[in-house]
Amino acid sequence: MTLAAPRHFLDLKDIDAGTLRHILETAATCKGRRRDHARPLTGKSVALIFEKPSTRTRVSFEVAIRELGGDPVILLGHDMQLGRGETVADTARVLSRYVDGIMMRTDRSAKLHELAQYATVPVINGLTEASHPCQIMADILTFEELRGPIEDQVIAWCGDGNNVARSWIEASARFGFVLRLATPPELAPSAELLAWARSQGARVEVGSDPEAAVADARCVITDTWVSMADTEGENRHNLLAPFRVTERLMAQAAPDAIFMHCLPAHRGEEVTAGVIDGPQSVVFEEAENRLHAQKGILAWALGASD
Ligand code: CP
Ligand code: NVA
Repeated sequence: MTLAAPRHFLDLKDIDAGTLRHILETAATCKGRRRDHARPLTGKSVALIFEKPSTRTRVSFEVAIRELGGDPVILLGHDMQLGRGETVADTARVLSRYVDGIMMRTDRSAKLHELAQYATVPVINGLTEASHPCQIMADILTFEELRGPIEDQVIAWCGDGNNVARSWIEASARFGFVLRLATPPELAPSAELLAWARSQGARVEVGSDPEAAVADARCVITDTWVSMADTEGENRHNLLAPFRVTERLMAQAAPDAIFMHCLPAHRGEEVTAGVIDGPQSVVFEEAENRLHAQKGILAWALGASD
């Protein structure tokens, strides 16, 4: 007997549009019935491995698993034998004997992929240096709640072409919106990823002019200038200063544009306090929606929302 392959949630590009829609629908249902929705993870445990710091991902996954009826098992990388040389493959095979799913945050995406290769239970990407797909699911849930279907809408990204930007590019291929990125050329997303997205029919434009990127956009997004996997702080600040999201830049976007940031934010760096604390900002709605989106992801990955 061959067992079905686990439903890993590693990157948006690996998952078809219909499945991503199904996950968002489950998320919306769970949000609408927060206190009395189904508990499809009853009797199941999910390991949450953190090799890097986290506030939102850790708490939202932990609470989501509990509210779905399951038990989270928090594992900090430096406390595990993984942190002192046990192989990823052995870790995957051992954890698969104990738990029903594994989420991992790491700054080496190769580790996440190796974990998924050897695990016999679903593996979920809780952020790597290369992508952050759970975040974008929450962001699309947020956009659609506030502004309706995202298909054909113009979404603008200003700043570093980082892990979060890369997942937005993958999302543009799956959800059919127009994505305009303004990044310094040195920090632009890879030609390979852009070629993949365009081969899927994505409408992705990349340039270095923030005003051109945000023109008529319904949503303006940015992120920290120095991600957890980055080291060269000062040079990044110099490169990225012209891409700060200011009140002046927001005024170039559509009149009803919303501002998004996955958080944690650095006021006065990638965004002014006036924007992130102003009326167009939806950053705390985004943060809340991590909880609901993750319920959709967990229910799908663990086979509990078919
Ligand atoms: N946005 C996000 O993933 O936040 P944390 O790093 O706090 O998990
Ligand atoms: N780009 C950021 C996102 C944090 C949630 C980082 O990787 O540190």
